[in-house]
Amino acid sequence: RTPEPLILVIFGASGDLTQRKLVPALYKMKQERRLPPELTIVGVARRDWTHDYFREQMRQGIEEFSDGIGNEELWADFAEGLYYCSGNMDEGESYQKLKVFLEELDGKRGTRGNRVFYLSVAPNFFPPGIKQLGAAGMLNDPLKHRIVIEKPFGKDLSSAQVLNRIVQKVCKEEQVYRIDHYLGKETVQNLLVFRFANAIFEPLWNRQFVDHVQITVAETVGVEDRAGYYDHSGALRDMLQNHLMQLFCLTAMDAPNALNADSIRNEKVKVLQATHLADIHNLEKSAIRGQYKAGWMKGKPIPGYLEEPGVDPNSTTPTYVAMKLMIDNWRWKGVPFYLRTGKRLPKKVSEIAIQFKEVPLLIFQSAAHQTSPNILSMRIQPNEGIALRFEAKMPGSELRTRTVEMDFDYGSSFGMASADAYHRLLLDAMLGDQTLFTRADEVEEAWRVVTPVLSAWDGPAEPNSVPQYEAGTWEPTEAEFLINRDGRRWRRL
Ligand code: BG6
Repeated sequence: RTPEPLILVIFGASGDLTQRKLVPALYKMKQERRLPPELTIVGVARRDWTHDYFREQMRQGIEEFSDGIGNEELWADFAEGLYYCSGNMDEGESYQKLKVFLEELDGKRGTRGNRVFYLSVAPNFFPPGIKQLGAAGMLNDPLKHRIVIEKPFGKDLSSAQVLNRIVQKVCKEEQVYRIDHYLGKETVQNLLVFRFANAIFEPLWNRQFVDHVQITVAETVGVEDRAGYYDHSGALRDMLQNHLMQLFCLTAMDAPNALNADSIRNEKVKVLQATHLADIHNLEKSAIRGQYKAGWMKGKPIPGYLEEPGVDPNSTTPTYVAMKLMIDNWRWKGVPFYLRTGKRLPKKVSEIAIQFKEVPLLIFQSAAHQTSPNILSMRIQPNEGIALRFEAKMPGSELRTRTVEMDFDYGSSFGMASADAYHRLLLDAMLGDQTLFTRADEVEEAWRVVTPVLSAWDGPAEPNSVPQYEAGTWEPTEAEFLINRDGRRWRRL
């Protein structure tokens, strides 16, 4: 399918995301002939750029961050549909000017009044941006007007509720596309296919057979040049509440009735409603934070978080978080889900591991017959794939076992690289398919689960009271206790 002719308006057009991800993804769609010829992109930002300067910036982005321009004629055609309109997010006049400009473009490009507004701006601009778009009448046609909102959607339950009310005042839920770019990743979408297009796994996917689940999103990068944002956000808000919770939902939810936005989102909300911290009265049994201190990675010295430029030297913002969640429903009662994510960990790796229960009676129980539990691990990135670990008899006259793995590898099986997450998400927003976007109640439920931890951590803390881990090492010891206390261990990836 190709989207209807439309104008995609990107607020925050001079920002990193536009140049690195959004416009390169759009150009790729152009190369793949997925875009209607009328498609028009209007960048909006405060700076006083000309259309040509904007085009030049976007060209540089495509050259630097994707496969390059390729065919110059194609680029010329694409560039012709790129426009720039300077404006201030909280000034009504800017929206009036934009509105007139968009109407002019409708006449020139045949875009028929269809709009997708993409808010790729700092979160403090979401409320004024949404209100002003509403006030200017730019969101009043549910069939023609959509809005895409980047993360973070709120900073806790109450701010997310406030933001949802603002959105609901100016438009209908079916016009709203809340982005969580993890949902655009092929391997994340494959969780649904793996679970619900195969008959053999689902019967095991419950408390009868699963001992526990570990969800890990480990990053090697630090805060880079985003300290201004990150120091007010931290690992729980930046990663766990959204990306890890999405992985959690797709792993734990029941089968949807159909492959459509509401069936899938209903199941995600249902599982979130049954989810709670492992021990609400004893938060350290539910969640552990950490902050990286100076260390070494790949032979290079790495500064500690508190020494990073732009970070408050007394900051208690976590760069690591581990959490234990429980689900009160028939499928999962009693099965812990351990989630962890952090920056400056030894390896970039994201995976979901389902660890199965031991066999009821182990008959191979001597020192020579060490067995390990079966683990199904779904690698989200890199080395995308799925592996099943099981025991096998080693060749030889003695009965000895060894753990082996059956491994499915995306790259070698399909022989093609996965598309960037934004490619799929932008295309879906333009097509009007909300399946891979989060619904208002879903975002609020995810915040509800983590808000007790945020409230505890946001309060005043003694300097140096946050557990530390050396850059380039796995979690702080306190996070080991979170899982070791239950007789289990974090996977070493
Ligand atoms: C973003 C976070 O949402 O996700 C970043 O703000 C993080 O801090 C990034 O680095 C990770 O995304 P990916 O796709 O590289 O796993």
